[in-house]
Amino acid sequence: MNFENILLQVKNGICTITINRPSKLNALNKSTIKELHEAIHQADENDQVGVIIITGSGEKAFVAGADISEFADFSVVEGEHLASEGQALLFDFIANLSTPVIAAVNGFALGGGLELAMAAHFRIASDNAKMGLPEVSLGLIPGYGGTQRLPQLIGKGRAMEMIMTAGMIDAEQALSYGLVNHVTSQEDLLDFTQSIAKKIMRNSPRAIASAITAINANYEEGENGFDTEITQFGKCFGTADFKEGTSAFLEKRKANFKGN
Ligand code: COA
Repeated sequence: MNFENILLQVKNGICTITINRPSKLNALNKSTIKELHEAIHQADENDQVGVIIITGSGEKAFVAGADISEFADFSVVEGEHLASEGQALLFDFIANLSTPVIAAVNGFALGGGLELAMAAHFRIASDNAKMGLPEVSLGLIPGYGGTQRLPQLIGKGRAMEMIMTAGMIDAEQALSYGLVNHVTSQEDLLDFTQSIAKKIMRNSPRAIASAITAINANYEEGENGFDTEITQFGKCFGTADFKEGTSAFLEKRKANFKGN
């Protein structure tokens, strides 16, 4: 698949995906969502990739939302389909991916843009970033998981306020809410995010995948996260990564994980 709306770079085990529609503040149109799905799927299948970083092109925006021009005349059925297809292709897909995904939020992350950042496993923001879910100002509600993930991340009351006011918060407030884990200058954002990715890549990819499954289980309807943890913990004992990790510790050497 040729990508028209995203840029892709794989270097030192890190796949960086840059959403590249700066003239539209990287708004997510249908084809960008499909390309992101494909690129993330490829990166997840690639044994050489240990971490995926998603960011936006230009200095102004991560992603300024779903592309409003594409759905302005949608019907009820089309609206529902837009949300369900987007959630399946991109937002839930990322949240449940076994390869870690970090959002490097380099500017506006609004609507679908903040929802994309929230679907990632965690977020790092530059100090010019502005985040919000302004959908009610358009007569809509967030449709790509925002009503669920925002309260999970920052608590119900804060999420209610952000969604009802359609307001934006800055990077420092997002940090104090726990919506982002770190704030850097815009210049340092990618280097800093890569430094965190490198720390992740020292560890067992198999164990990390199990940890993602177990952590996510807490937020899955009808799943008992403690039970999932027990199953995933047990599974680790059957992996070559576990043998390598424990042998390396006992032999006082650095582990060389192969991810199997
Ligand atoms: N969908 C489609 N196009 C968008 C967009 C979106 N979500 N966000 C920005 N754009 C486009 C603008 O229409 C404009 O295109 P044009 O130059 O062809 O007119 C271009 O990106 C630049 O945006 P502009 O509004 O001129 O920049 P600004 O600096 O004045 O304002 C924002 C920046 C982010 C405050 C403003 O673009 C905005 O409010 N965007 C929509 C945010 C939103 O409601 N997102 C949720 C969607 S569900």
